[in-house]
Amino acid sequence: MRVPGSRTRAKLVHGAKGFVFDAANFQAMVDLREKHRLEDSMGFRGQFDEHRRFQIELLKNLGLKPSHQFLELGCGPLTAGLPLIEYLDRGHYTGVDIRESVLNMSWREVGKAGLTSKNPRLICSDSFGSIELKSETFDFVYSFSVLYHLADEVLDHYFAAVTQRIASGGFCIANVNTTIASDRWLEFPFLKRTIQDYANGAARHGLTTTSLGKLMDLGFRNQAAEADNPVLKFAKR
Ligand SMILES: C[S@@+](CC[C@H](N)C(=O)[O-])C[C@H]1O[C@@H](n2cnc3c(N)ncnc32)[C@H](O)[C@@H]1O
Repeated sequence: MRVPGSRTRAKLVHGAKGFVFDAANFQAMVDLREKHRLEDSMGFRGQFDEHRRFQIELLKNLGLKPSHQFLELGCGPLTAGLPLIEYLDRGHYTGVDIRESVLNMSWREVGKAGLTSKNPRLICSDSFGSIELKSETFDFVYSFSVLYHLADEVLDHYFAAVTQRIASGGFCIANVNTTIASDRWLEFPFLKRTIQDYANGAARHGLTTTSLGKLMDLGFRNQAAEADNPVLKFAKR
């Protein structure tokens, strides 16, 4: 049974709460919390904006065009993915990640940015999308801050997947860690390897490796440890 006047009272209470929310600028706090959640799921607190800016600029400088088919392995919270979805033609962005929790966050970001009609595809997979992608190939295969989280055996699967996914004339771009001591990040290892280690692993799957230079030489602006990361290009022989 409804108490007389209860709807009016609820409206007044809601209005008063809204007033306090706006007056105290709680929205800014909510936005900051959301940003921290995104940053924590990509591993670089306070660096989200520069990671996003750098990655999209890097890819455009490497020749990415809206018409290209793009596959991001380890897409995380769409740090690069969101501007890529906006830039690429409808249906040309595919992101793969092993964590469902981060992809749930990513879908929310797509909606908030009003990019649903771009029809991005996000795949949750522990085999780099081997089942879902069938025989599809891509002009760009891309992984940022991912390869150093892959144990040797997983890295071998990664190179097998990359070989299968690169379209004729396409290539794979990824940064690696050659300087910071091995450690852990969340449930993943964090591994220091040499460029030669990666080149050897890639060669086992018929891929050549070229170093494009360090992040800092390629326009990364933050004075952070990852500025030292080499960016590698893998292509079919
Ligand atoms: C440091 S985050 C970087 C995310 C994103 N590339 C970025 O630049 O923000 C590494 C991501 O790789 C994902 N990852 C780790 N191992 C993976 C695997 N075997 N397959 C797919 N994704 C993986 C993690 O879940 C995480 O989202």
